Amino acid sequence: MDNTGTIRLGSENFDFPIIEGTEGEKALDIRSLRAKSGCISFDEGYGNTGSCLSGITFINGEQGVLRHRGYPIEQLAEQSTFIETAFLAIYGELPTREQLTKLRSNVTQNASIHTAMHHHFDGFPNRAHPMSILSAMLNSLGAYYPEMSSNNRDQDLLHFDQTAALLISKVRTIAAMTYRMKQGLPFVFPDPNRRYANNFLHMMFSEPYNPYQDDHGASEALDLLLLLHADHEQNCSTSTVRMVASGGANLFASVSAGVCALWGPSHGGANMAVIKMLEEIHATGDDGSRFIRDAKEGKTKLMGFGHRVYKNYDPRAKILGLSCERVLKGLGVDDPLLDIARHLEQAALQEEYFIQRKLYPNVDFYSGILLKAIGIPVEMFTVLFAIGRMPGWIANWKEIAENPKSRIHRPRQIYTGASMRDYVTIDER
Ligand code: CMC
Repeated sequence: MDNTGTIRLGSENFDFPIIEGTEGEKALDIRSLRAKSGCISFDEGYGNTGSCLSGITFINGEQGVLRHRGYPIEQLAEQSTFIETAFLAIYGELPTREQLTKLRSNVTQNASIHTAMHHHFDGFPNRAHPMSILSAMLNSLGAYYPEMSSNNRDQDLLHFDQTAALLISKVRTIAAMTYRMKQGLPFVFPDPNRRYANNFLHMMFSEPYNPYQDDHGASEALDLLLLLHADHEQNCSTSTVRMVASGGANLFASVSAGVCALWGPSHGGANMAVIKMLEEIHATGDDGSRFIRDAKEGKTKLMGFGHRVYKNYDPRAKILGLSCERVLKGLGVDDPLLDIARHLEQAALQEEYFIQRKLYPNVDFYSGILLKAIGIPVEMFTVLFAIGRMPGWIANWKEIAENPKSRIHRPRQIYTGASMRDYVTIDER
């Protein structure tokens, strides 16, 4: 194939290079389109727009393939851990034993929150959503580390390793503290002898003289869930992180914006919406059939189904579906919501409406059931997504910050408002 593509506008032809990714994905490089032709491209929702070159994550949505730095998600899920996968996403290679130990110890040492920050929690009303607290807290965190949040790229990059470990660690502590604050419970300090996910559950659920004990594999299941969320190329929140980073903003500010973007129900908020949907179905005595009918008629959406990129099974949903069964069995939990979810999945996969539109379960379809079984309240579900996605946001920020050629992200628009008109005084309106 010729490595140029031609766009014909009226009678004029404009040639553009075709660039190819390492997995053979092709793109027409139209960066000179406006300069050459006066035209811009229009792609609302960016379904056909490559916003960057990235070496972190590869997705083939048609085949249901997800790889981080070349490693299939199935292999990482089976053999890796959240912290190791975080290292891989951020630094590009699987860590040596030494590198992994260093990251783990950095994460452990950075787990506690400056005591002055404890007072920030007092300022939030009890009804505040944990995602709003998380975003505010992550941005405030930067204020405690001005040398890491200078908005001077060289300076911020100088401290990058420390900032990355600190954020991976403290996002978990802030999340647990948010839960305790909302419950009116005293904060639980991190335990340096516990692993990442187990330490989170300890900070959530330990009580004085009654430390959290995990006898049923909840920590491993949570670690897997976090690993499965570690990165997912240019989704809404990661694109937001890159957008904010492109202006030169520091890592704290960029990931704080990522949390806001993640919150919406079409994105990370879907894991909360799935449980609400399953509970509503259960409460009405429906087995899911009525709900599917409503979805087909466009009256409602099947939350946890569909994806902009996957037109096949989201591989993360497959892994989580199996993990859910294991964990529920281990915990001895018989959750009717899992039965409804299985029924919905089977019914949807056989319905013409879903087949035609290639709508399959996504990562959020089973994550809520798993989190619920572990004892995480629904309100915290999207926060768990944010903890998991932190390495991906950090890796994407790093790609922008380390690229000397990176430009501020500044899309154009097609103006559809009123044409030029003269000001009318208030008496004449
Ligand atoms: N239930 C019923 N119909 C659906 C659904 C759904 N969940 N998702 C898409 N459709 C229909 C949609 O109505 C449209 O139908 P038609 O062609 O007749 O107008 C068609 O499928 C194409 O949908 P779309 O809205 O153009 O797809 P999109 O790529 O813009 O949206 C999505 C992707 C994930 C926002 C959407 O599928 C959705 O809202 N799903 C439910 C929310 C959800 O589970 N979100 C989590 C996404 S995965 C985790 C993450 O990345 O955050």
